[in-house]
Amino acid sequence: MKIVLMGPPGAGKGTQAKLISNMYSIPHISTGDIFRKQISQNTPLGIKAKETIDKGQLAPDDITIHIVEERIELEDCKVGFLLDGFPRTVVQALALESYLQHKSDKLDAVILVEVPRSEILERMTGRRVCLNCGASYHIHFNPTKVEGKCDVCGNQVVQRVDDQDETVKRRLRIYDEQTQPLIRFYEGKKLLHIIDGTLNIKEVSKSICDILGSEVI
Ligand code: AP5
Ligand code: MG
Ligand code: ZN
Repeated sequence: MKIVLMGPPGAGKGTQAKLISNMYSIPHISTGDIFRKQISQNTPLGIKAKETIDKGQLAPDDITIHIVEERIELEDCKVGFLLDGFPRTVVQALALESYLQHKSDKLDAVILVEVPRSEILERMTGRRVCLNCGASYHIHFNPTKVEGKCDVCGNQVVQRVDDQDETVKRRLRIYDEQTQPLIRFYEGKKLLHIIDGTLNIKEVSKSICDILGSEVI
């Protein structure tokens, strides 16, 4: 099963990707999580990406495409994968398509999680993330069991640097300019499914499972 989860910043992609990847036993690949981990470990890639990401701008296509291709080459992706936050530009979508075509393969579904702007800011300001395993929480909607500690790995949860008001607005603007065109792209390929991301976390998961159950398996 090869799935792309797309949607604006704060739509709940990461939250859903974790649940769905557990349910279907496929790896969850989040380019944002990969970049944040590299930044927290001060690797050369992290140092290079930090400034762009902290400002809410997109990392260069060539670096991002390389990271994803390297990741989906790994053995655990033989059964499929769930991409979260990639592709985000038409260049990235074309690169993914041609990578899969080379392997006589293709995506099974692209799921767009839709949430109106009014709700996004509230979600982002209350969000806390684990920089170790990528788990995402919300101080009201999805709190950690022990305050400040990740339920999955016990690391400290923190606020993301790019979750400040002005940076969130820039990320939303970039989404409109660079990522929205992918909706048409995948509609044209008959892969797109749109779901209502304003429902609660369980209900959103159910909508995704309904699509995966009927369309993919
Ligand atoms: P990335 O980490 O992918 O950020 P994003 O797409 O902006 O999305 P977010 O992670 O902010 O939101 P989400 O949809 O995952 O929401 P979440 O589940 O956390 O990318 C970060 C940066 O990395 C980019 O800006 C860019 O610089 C770089 N980058 C990444 N990929 C790239 C690429 N392909 N090309 C170039 N650059 C790239 O949920 C949000 C909050 O809401 C949480 O608090 C959560 O608990 C809560 N919540 C979730 N679902 C619900 C619900 N149903 N009801 C109530 N609350 C909910
Ligand atoms: Mg995310
Ligand atoms: Zn964790």
